[in-house]
Amino acid sequence: MDLQERLDEIASLGLSRRMRLVTGPQGPRVVLDGRPVLLLCSNNYLGLADHPRVREAAAEASMRWGVGAGASRLVSGTMTVHRRLEESLAAFKGTESALLFGSGYLANLGVVAALAGEGDVVFSDELNHASIIDGCRLARARTAVYRHNDVEHLTWLIEQTGARSGVVVTDGVFSMDGDVAPLAELLDVAHANGLRMVVDEAHGTGCVGPGGRGAVADTGLEGDVDVVVGTLGKALGSYGAFAACNAKTAEYLTNTARSLIFSTALPPPVVAGAVAALELLIEQPRRVEKLQANAGALRDELAREGFDVAGSTTQIVPLIVGDATTAMAICEAAIEGGVFAQAIRPPTVPEGTSRLRLAVMASHTKAELRDAARTIGRAAMTAGFRPATAAPMAAAQQATDEWPAIRAA
Ligand SMILES: Cc1ncc(COP(=O)(O)O)c(C=O)c1O
Repeated sequence: MDLQERLDEIASLGLSRRMRLVTGPQGPRVVLDGRPVLLLCSNNYLGLADHPRVREAAAEASMRWGVGAGASRLVSGTMTVHRRLEESLAAFKGTESALLFGSGYLANLGVVAALAGEGDVVFSDELNHASIIDGCRLARARTAVYRHNDVEHLTWLIEQTGARSGVVVTDGVFSMDGDVAPLAELLDVAHANGLRMVVDEAHGTGCVGPGGRGAVADTGLEGDVDVVVGTLGKALGSYGAFAACNAKTAEYLTNTARSLIFSTALPPPVVAGAVAALELLIEQPRRVEKLQANAGALRDELAREGFDVAGSTTQIVPLIVGDATTAMAICEAAIEGGVFAQAIRPPTVPEGTSRLRLAVMASHTKAELRDAARTIGRAAMTAGFRPATAAPMAAAQQATDEWPAIRAA
């Protein structure tokens, strides 16, 4: 493959990516490529990444245990600080056990592939995160992709495939849409058909549900879902991930999840930072309330600007534009106006559904959010996009209808 040719092709589709330079921590305001902006696309939802107690815990841990864990947890890497965080996470999620992974990507890869063996079927929502899709690819099972949040389609696919064992896997809060999966219905269908259920709470943990315990807890399903994956790098302000499940499943994953077995354990400072962040989340539930109130305020302000925020009910608010080049133009114009909300384009989202993905933080003020909505409204005008006349969901629907219902792994 000619790399330059491929890069040129990506550019011609308006899909080139580059990394922007942020000076300072992931606070509500940052300096982006030298320009001060409001940061409206970070997953540091609760502002814990640079909280003094989290910083101190990480700094102390590096003095006490060093920076690296030295090996895979099964070789030499399980340290007391790992065990402590696992116990706290299991208590927080209401499960018997929790098992740390190197990242959310690695957790989904490991969990899905471990639970879905030869002869099984993985049923996966079409808008699931890429790490789940890659977990399906790594699994020896077949994959059946059901329409977004469509329980009827899932039921039909289960009948069509004749699956007797396997997994239903879904994001709890969808990372690019901010809507919530119908977890109770999905779980009913999964368990009625002898399938396990995996819910990725990367964006639910710390953000939705009672005390930020996630969408699963919000639906009253704590302890019922077979595996809940959560991440430590978003609301919990650190890095890494975990699978919360019963003790038997944890033992099984310890023996079979390749991304756990064959990867170095999380660094002690990162783990200690997450311990401190979790303590803060539990001690100060008002952070979650503030986040949810801020999310509601931003959605209202955007509606006032004529934007349709699709089905978002959470801190993730998509402004679906459709065309990738226009989405990028709005993003650049918003940065000029002092607001950074990254444009998200295929393959992260389906063709024809490029968007600005806004992510609210508890540390934003209502005034900042109001001004940001106005800035984005002006940026849309500058880019020639008329929010009120656009039909974002129609574009999204068309794109998803074209997706294959059943994919070979
Ligand atoms: C839904 C979802 N799952 C998993 C991940 C991966 O988590 P991590 O960033 O810890 O690898 C992400 C990250 O963006 C995500 O949005």
